[in-house]
Amino acid sequence: YEVDWDASAAEKGGWDSFMDKEIHEDPAAVQQTLMGRLSEDGEIQLDEVRIDENELKSIDKIVVVACGTASYAGMVAKYAIEHWVRIPVEIELAHEFRYRDPILTPRTLVVAISQSGETMDTLMALRHAREQGSKVLAICNTQGASIARESDAVLYTHAGPEVAVASTKAFVAQITAAYILGLYLAQIKGTVFRDEIRGTLDQLQAMPRKIQWILDTQVDTIAKAAAQLDDAKSFLFLGRHVGYPVALEGALKLKEIAYTFTEGFAAGELKHGPIALVDEGEPVVFIVPPARGRNILHAKVISGIEEVKARGATIIAVAEEGDPDVDRYADFVFWRPECPTLMSPLVDVVPLQLFAMDMANQKGYDVDKPRNLAKSVTVE
Ligand code: G6P
Repeated sequence: YEVDWDASAAEKGGWDSFMDKEIHEDPAAVQQTLMGRLSEDGEIQLDEVRIDENELKSIDKIVVVACGTASYAGMVAKYAIEHWVRIPVEIELAHEFRYRDPILTPRTLVVAISQSGETMDTLMALRHAREQGSKVLAICNTQGASIARESDAVLYTHAGPEVAVASTKAFVAQITAAYILGLYLAQIKGTVFRDEIRGTLDQLQAMPRKIQWILDTQVDTIAKAAAQLDDAKSFLFLGRHVGYPVALEGALKLKEIAYTFTEGFAAGELKHGPIALVDEGEPVVFIVPPARGRNILHAKVISGIEEVKARGATIIAVAEEGDPDVDRYADFVFWRPECPTLMSPLVDVVPLQLFAMDMANQKGYDVDKPRNLAKSVTVE
């Protein structure tokens, strides 16, 4: 859609850019996406999802189709939905999907995630899925968009209009919506105890406050890091489990608006190749999982940090408040409040959004309108 950039100054509501404003709307995006979907007694109510409950009960596979940031929201959701619903979740870039004869049956639920609802690649993928007899559910931020209209059901993200080209608040809203969908399927299929669903919903409802904590306490630290790192030629982003898609999204943000060469990897893959890139001063961003409960993944990520630190890398870590191991090795730490692993992407991505914005500002780029990119790509 077209935006009149002069008239829009007032719409920024005092923020320097739409991106800045929209990152600060991350907590509201999560909160509004949860609103109206939970009943008093802690059940999930999705009257808007007009797919018959028996049909949903029989779903034996989910395929997420999406592009860009939306695809990373889908990757995050895979970890949670497989855990809760015990059915396979595949995530596929929409433009690859229909050209390889994917296996689709009436028992496959295709979930199309799109902020704009107009991405042509995603629209063509969902058309293909429906032609093959699969049901399509859209997770979409724009009322009445093509992807919403052409799907069997829509679960709207209520992030509000997103103007900056690089997606921020839509991402956390997409994760929230996909989690609600996963918990709803778990409720229908009875794969998770009611109490556990209720507990998970409580965790979700606590997330806006936790995101707000980052916005209230970490902004200066992140800006200072960007000021010291803005001449770096490239960045590596590493994470494990749900931290892996967060690493990919952090790398994408920096690429999109600061025009910095970045690569995101699964941290376990480090020793299988990427470590060859690590040299004196190379900045490496780690998404560190929670340390509590002797989390084995925490120890593994810390050992990855040690490996690259030994080769002279500059370590930037996103880690849980007070994590002593991180403090020991990291050159820069962006703290996040304590939260369960599956909820952590909702907080971990926020410092990376801010970092990308600060880096782009530092270099004097237009953070809202990066070169060569469009908010919504309506061609295949
Ligand atoms: C474009 C935008 C990205 C976005 C992607 C998918 O490439 O620049 O920020 O993630 O499209 O957009 P959608 O509207 O389908 O979520």
